[in-house]
Amino acid sequence: MVAENEETALIRVIDLAQQWSGCNFTRYNPSTLGRRVGRRMIDVRCQSVADYLDYLLTHPAEYPRLVSAMTIKVSRFFRDPEVFQLIDTVILPRIFARAAANNRQSVRIWSSACACGEEAYSIAILIAEILANEQTSHPNITLLGTDLDSQSLAAAAEGIYHREELLEISEPLRSRYFTQPLSLWPLQFQVAPQLRSMVQFTTFDLTNPTRLAPPSGIFSEYDFILCRNMLIYCQPALKLDILRRFFTCLRPGGFLALGRSESLPEYYTDRFETIDPRIKLYMKKETI
Ligand SMILES: C[S@@+](CC[C@H](N)C(=O)[O-])C[C@H]1O[C@@H](n2cnc3c(N)ncnc32)[C@H](O)[C@@H]1O
Repeated sequence: MVAENEETALIRVIDLAQQWSGCNFTRYNPSTLGRRVGRRMIDVRCQSVADYLDYLLTHPAEYPRLVSAMTIKVSRFFRDPEVFQLIDTVILPRIFARAAANNRQSVRIWSSACACGEEAYSIAILIAEILANEQTSHPNITLLGTDLDSQSLAAAAEGIYHREELLEISEPLRSRYFTQPLSLWPLQFQVAPQLRSMVQFTTFDLTNPTRLAPPSGIFSEYDFILCRNMLIYCQPALKLDILRRFFTCLRPGGFLALGRSESLPEYYTDRFETIDPRIKLYMKKETI
């Protein structure tokens, strides 16, 4: 009986989080959501989910904390350096070469679950380095960072990070692309204005059934979409919906990066060429 009440309370908590955020959590992995609610219960010292439900109903300030916990914000710059090595040496050069060969003036890249911007800025650093070493003119680059969580995106736009999050960045790159204004704590760094101006951050919910891509993505035709370490929390049907969205938004020959512990469902394995099976980089086939 008690267990049943707890289960009902959990469903109600998830439902309230859904109403508050607009995100459809019904197709996320229930066990992960349950664990994340458990974390919030510990933080606010609730002994049962039913108690937590009461707490939530009487403390509206808890909603953003709950939704933030349910959507998991772990990230860091150049997370998984081997992936960024391949992006730097293979993916970006191929994107730029292709744009030049087709006389195309624009390149479009979308970091679609970008947390506090670490992944989008990592890509921006690689692009800035490539452009700094290029003699010829280059296309206009749209680099979009989106996430469900507007608070994370506000932090991303501000671009202030603790030293721990920058551990994968070499010293020369750190001094080129980060500053340490006196207003910050000694272990904090801020992304340099030049880099901040390269990335547009905007909220976008990947479960949104009515919109395929963020507003500035209306014309889609992305060259590269990253969705790393988000699909792992989704049930298979939601994962398929999100991949269908990316498949539609990518131009033929465009690239897709997933997290290392994520993979393409069988339905898509014929539609993408695998660039590297270990680190989950794919290319949308030219003809299907
Ligand atoms: C673990 S972080 C991954 C961050 C980054 N991609 C990385 O690999 O380091 C997962 C991110 O997915 C976002 N997320 C979860 N559900 C989402 C949704 N429905 N739409 C957009 N972003 C979502 C979360 O807010 C969180 O920032």
